[in-house]
Amino acid sequence: MTIPTTMSAMLLTGHGGPEKLIYRDDVPVPRPAAGEVLIEVSACGMNNTDIKVREAAYAVDFDPNSGEEETTAAASIASADGETTLSFPRIQGADTVGRIVAVGEGVPESRAGERVLVDFSLYHGRDANGRPCMDLWNVDYIGHGRDGGYADYVTVPTENAHAVKTDIPDAALATFGCSTQTAEHMIARVRVEAGRRVLVTGAGGGVGSAAVQLVRARGAHPIAVTSRSKEATLIEFGAEACIAREDFTDETGRFDGERFTAEIARAAGGRCRIDAVIDQVGGAMFHPLLRSLKPDGHYITAGTIAGYTPRINLHTVYMAFLNIHGSSQGQPEDFARIVRYIEEGAITPALGGVWRLSQLHAAQEAFKTKAHIGNLVVVPDRKWDEIGAPRHD
Ligand SMILES: NC(=O)c1ccc[n+]([C@@H]2O[C@H](COP(=O)([O-])OP(=O)(O)OC[C@H]3O[C@@H](n4cnc5c(N)ncnc54)[C@H](OP(=O)(O)O)[C@@H]3O)[C@@H](O)[C@H]2O)c1
Repeated sequence: MTIPTTMSAMLLTGHGGPEKLIYRDDVPVPRPAAGEVLIEVSACGMNNTDIKVREAAYAVDFDPNSGEEETTAAASIASADGETTLSFPRIQGADTVGRIVAVGEGVPESRAGERVLVDFSLYHGRDANGRPCMDLWNVDYIGHGRDGGYADYVTVPTENAHAVKTDIPDAALATFGCSTQTAEHMIARVRVEAGRRVLVTGAGGGVGSAAVQLVRARGAHPIAVTSRSKEATLIEFGAEACIAREDFTDETGRFDGERFTAEIARAAGGRCRIDAVIDQVGGAMFHPLLRSLKPDGHYITAGTIAGYTPRINLHTVYMAFLNIHGSSQGQPEDFARIVRYIEEGAITPALGGVWRLSQLHAAQEAFKTKAHIGNLVVVPDRKWDEIGAPRHD
């Protein structure tokens, strides 16, 4: 196959509004370095981080008990020592699906031709056996610290390109990736086992809809907190019960935590019996979620779509012997389990819609409404006629 020298790509040219995303058709096709593969992209899943990084909207390290006015978030992702690997122009896009068309030095030629799903996490660490793993001081990902899949071609480390044996079409396959790995890592960290009862918030979103399925795949019982319009789909994905979040917010926007906790208890079959909360919402839901846990229960978060800085009553934490965890992205073994689940049909894609890559601005507008279930995906314009999914022309 002849690989062109230039390609189409969506370039992020700086922090700011959508105007910082510029579509070009004269971007050099990258060459795979040693240990890397070159992938011809056929679809790429979208994530909140694309928008947050563009807007520099990650939280600064604000102390909610300082008595000071909350600082407006104004940061991009940085490693634990405060350094960022982001530079401009950057091609974003974490969740690439495509075909390997060339390999770098040290990668077997036989990989060429494989259809792959990309694990977005960059593994700068080594575990006790010398295998790649996440360096918790230096968490980074494809589409941030190096170019991602909003392009016709992308290079990735060979270990990040996973061959997946499935009939799932490319656009639907691209719904797995960042959100699914993030969900699986949280579930693994709080050791969800068969029979456990797990509450999942933001359940209609990418992470949440994956978490509901992944909790079920372990033989545990997910309860979904979601929008009423998404309940039926989440029951299909395996939710034991759904709680409609709109029912607990009054016309002034106040969230009724007492009633919310009572409803969780009812859904869990009586007194609060939740073993673990997988939370991507935070905000006013946070404290009622803690109160819904069993003694020695686990709360875990990898995101807070409703607010970073809820306050906490430590009495609740110590009297109930609670365990509170933070998490971000995931490890290679989490991704390997996801590939196995996909191949076994234990999890199914939640594809909310597909856009041409050149229409990413419109796709992001739709993404921000959160009306969809699961993930939205973009497809390189030159592949547009090949996809068989719900499309937005
Ligand atoms: N640290 C990491 O590695 C990592 C990885 C992925 C995502 N994240 C973060 O985790 C969060 C969720 O990610 P995602 O990919 O699942 O996002 P998403 O696909 O946009 O879904 C978020 C869901 O949260 C619910 N929601 C939205 N606004 C809400 C509000 N004000 N109050 C309560 N619920 C609300 C909605 O679901 P319902 O309608 O069902 O309630 C929405 O679909 C984001 O903040 C994202 O940045 C972090």
